[in-house]
Amino acid sequence: MSPEAAGAVAAVDPRDFRRSLGLYATGVAVVTTTAPGGGNVGLTINSFASVSLDPPLILWSLAKTSPRLGLFATAEHFAVNILAKAQEDICTRFARPGEDRFAGLDTAPGIGGVPLIPDCLAHLECAREQVIEGGDHLILIGRVLRHRRTDGQDALVFCNGVFTGIPTEKH
Ligand SMILES: Cc1cc2nc3c(=O)[nH]c(=O)nc-3n(C[C@H](O)[C@H](O)[C@H](O)COP(=O)(O)O)c2cc1C
Repeated sequence: MSPEAAGAVAAVDPRDFRRSLGLYATGVAVVTTTAPGGGNVGLTINSFASVSLDPPLILWSLAKTSPRLGLFATAEHFAVNILAKAQEDICTRFARPGEDRFAGLDTAPGIGGVPLIPDCLAHLECAREQVIEGGDHLILIGRVLRHRRTDGQDALVFCNGVFTGIPTEKH
């Protein structure tokens, strides 16, 4: 019997696994919150997913290597800022370490003072509902307290390391 037939499979290589995961096309968002001592915090994510309509729940996952881990794990509120195609620069900026990511951005304060990035496709303002261990990531579940949309912009889409846009229409 071959090792495969006997149920023996080679260990999943993380880098190779990442390439397979990258074939799943997603939107892109920036998750924002405030630091306890003041100051805005945010990072680019594509691990966003809807969880429940009633109650309204969403999730995203944060790498445990993030310097912002403790902050997001304990923040009472956070916002998911869903990016438009025209905001690819925001996506890049919030994925780069060591930058003042909010420099020159005219954010508006949302629930709990959480910064909302202007010109997004949608904002989901959330209260922290649950934090779950997920391997090398933490899974953050948020309860959506308020949400807003801006119609008529293309959505930013990420697949296989490439950004593109798709039109959104008002229904
Ligand atoms: C398209 C895209 C999607 C990303 N998705 C995630 C994600 O879901 N979770 C995560 O922890 N990092 C994700 N990242 C990486 C972070 O944005 C990046 O590591 C950032 O520097 C983390 O910020 P921090 O150093 O403040 O934690 C993504 C980056 C890009 C460009």
